[in-house]
Amino acid sequence: MKIVIIGAGAMGSLYGAKLSAVTDTPVCLLDVWQDQVKEINARGLTVEDVSSPEPRVYRNLRAFQDPAGIGPADLVIIFVKSTLTAQAVRTGRAVFGENTPALTLQNGLGNIEGIAETLPRTSIIAGTTAQGATLLGPGRIRHAGKGKTVIGELDGSISPRLKAAADLFNRAGLETEISANVEGLIWDKLLVNVGINALTAVTRLRNGGLLAHEELAELLAAAVTEGVRVAGAKGIKLNVPDPVAHTREVCAATGENQSSMLQDILKGRPTEIDMINGAILREGAAWGIAAPVNGVLTKLVKFFEKTGAGERGPA
Ligand code: PAF
Repeated sequence: MKIVIIGAGAMGSLYGAKLSAVTDTPVCLLDVWQDQVKEINARGLTVEDVSSPEPRVYRNLRAFQDPAGIGPADLVIIFVKSTLTAQAVRTGRAVFGENTPALTLQNGLGNIEGIAETLPRTSIIAGTTAQGATLLGPGRIRHAGKGKTVIGELDGSISPRLKAAADLFNRAGLETEISANVEGLIWDKLLVNVGINALTAVTRLRNGGLLAHEELAELLAAAVTEGVRVAGAKGIKLNVPDPVAHTREVCAATGENQSSMLQDILKGRPTEIDMINGAILREGAAWGIAAPVNGVLTKLVKFFEKTGAGERGPA
């Protein structure tokens, strides 16, 4: 099975590495980052794991900057930042054959719509992951938190391609389930990111740190509760019975991880704030639901984006 991953950041690299251990054909990683591509092709991809003393080097991978060299895949997984989804799929069009499923496991709202600008909606599978990974440098990541991957067809069917993808992921050690409620799934995960990402980006704490401070645990609950109200107004059927408790569980399970938004702020990169807390604010406004905590978090993260805050915070 030929797998292509668009976006070789922390999560794309993690899935690429794990899947490369169970595929005969090398997993292809497509990314614009030249140093990452060079390093992976020269020395493989090194994965540190918080639960094992020795890092593991994965070599059944090929990295590319240009999709032309790859050819059509049997499965494409999209892992670029949600702000770049539409552009990345357009640029990577050559890796999609007539029947290639496009799987998005990205954070935030709007990824399906971004993919559908280039590909038919029937080619899209969506899902979420509670895995956590940190990019340490070219060719090196840390697997800092384990959690379930859940995937589903947009029409709720349990298709052979869905089962095949879930089987493959499970064989690779990425615990995966299938869901018939993909919209609920995306909102379940959105609410986790609403509670964790902006707060960790603002405080510079690892995910687990949010649970150690009462004030932050309260803000986490308030941000998620606003999101739950918006989901309710939109008629979204969440799969998770208690999203605040669930977010706290993910915080604990990925306690050692720096959230993707904190990693972005520390590296001076744009964040996914508009697709996460900003999305709650927008959707809330459309449905007449106030979301002040998400509003404040969105503004604070945008401030840190603008000031290029780095490790020590803004000057
Ligand atoms: O964006 C992230 O960092 C991840 O989705 C999660 C699950 C919050 C773990 O850090």
